[in-house]
Amino acid sequence: MSHPASDNQLDKKAQAWSALFSEPMSELVKRYTSSVFFDKRLWRADIAGSLAHAEMLAAQGIISAADLADIERGMAQIRAEIEAGQFEWKLDLEDVHLNIEARLTTLVGDAGKRLHTGRSRNDQVATDVRLWLRDEIDATAVLLADMQRALVSVAEKNVDTILPGFTHLQVAQPVSFAHHLLAYVEMFARDAERLADLRKRVNRLPLGSAALAGTSYPLDRERVARTLGFEAVCQNSLDAVSDRDFAIEYTAFASLVMIHVSRLAEEIVVWMSQNFGFINLSDRYCTGSSIMPQKRNPDVAELARGKSGRVVGHLMGLITLMKGQPLAYNKDNQEDKEPLFDTVDTVNDTLRIMAEMIGGEVAADGSRSGGLTVRKDAMERAALRGYATATDLADYLVKKGLPFRDAHEVVAHAVKDAIALGKDLAELPLETLQGYDARITADVAEALTLAGSLNARSTLGGTAPVQVRAQIERHHARLG
Ligand code: ARG
Repeated sequence: MSHPASDNQLDKKAQAWSALFSEPMSELVKRYTSSVFFDKRLWRADIAGSLAHAEMLAAQGIISAADLADIERGMAQIRAEIEAGQFEWKLDLEDVHLNIEARLTTLVGDAGKRLHTGRSRNDQVATDVRLWLRDEIDATAVLLADMQRALVSVAEKNVDTILPGFTHLQVAQPVSFAHHLLAYVEMFARDAERLADLRKRVNRLPLGSAALAGTSYPLDRERVARTLGFEAVCQNSLDAVSDRDFAIEYTAFASLVMIHVSRLAEEIVVWMSQNFGFINLSDRYCTGSSIMPQKRNPDVAELARGKSGRVVGHLMGLITLMKGQPLAYNKDNQEDKEPLFDTVDTVNDTLRIMAEMIGGEVAADGSRSGGLTVRKDAMERAALRGYATATDLADYLVKKGLPFRDAHEVVAHAVKDAIALGKDLAELPLETLQGYDARITADVAEALTLAGSLNARSTLGGTAPVQVRAQIERHHARLG
């Protein structure tokens, strides 16, 4: 039976290199090199990884069954202490790994000291971060699906809501508001695909690579991988301990998500501006001004747009972190955590709040309340300004036999005159229109309406309501 030692002895012991050193680390260096105040967040993964490692060591006869039992008992207590907020995290113990290991040894003695057999913090930390990130990826995947469902829920009520579609932010052609929202669903669907793909590369086990070269103990890495739910084992120990591609891949994925969110947020800000007035947001997502009593500002959307900057910044940081690092592990790698943690928090929080702001809160029975208010009339009024159906008049003339380039020219004249008269094309008398081309007859009226324009664009992926409804069905089937 082993004898639990005092915390004090173990604090020193945990600094495994201490016998070699003749002077203590300065307080400044301690603070500079320690990571415990941010990497303690990995504690669940750290304990899970240690238990899987210990279980394998026992199965391979490297430690005894009694040692394994002690380790399991000690880890159960540590877990309870951390959950209860009673675990004392110590800066002197540098990181989450040494803090937990030292406490384990305090609690169970020699068995705790045997846990690190055949392992290094280099493969341990790489394993912890991957385990932690895998769970976060699964959370992000759910949030991405929720975001798409929120957009689809607004889309299905607005298939026949017409707003001006823009190119160069100039009125171009009328589009269905549902079609516009479904464009964002496509973006988030691609993000979800990317996430599922990168998860495969995150979900590989570094443990068993030890410090850099593998280990002399007869480890069963496949067994540890199975226990922890990893789908593969990293195949090169040097790469396994030093690779942070998986963190970069997630952050690259997150950057794209945030750019998509940022574009959507920008539209929401513009649509909410009095000059557009296309939508309204619930008060709970807006703030007032301390000086202008009339203000209701779309702060959530603005912040979501702004936070894209920090995630893209983290991507730059992580990529640069790896540049020029020789094989294998270097302490530089400790710098992977804060940007990765912040990226995960930012993307998850942003997806959650934006989905709720757009689609409303989802009750247990799936019903939604709140969400953005669509001002159909304002959208339609805007679509009627700016000659959004000019292309339709040109297309109409083409169908009557005029070559497209000539039709384009004829309509340009008509628009010029209409602007001078302060009228929309549809408001010009038939005789006036016939003055531009004798082929124009009474049926032109239908072509010049917003609904007529929309219905005409029924190519696959086009804005015609029949196409948009088909897309909504597809998304329902896909998202469940
Ligand atoms: N805290 C360290 C990190 O985050 C753990 C690995 C330390 N390994 C070492 N050889 N110093 O990377």
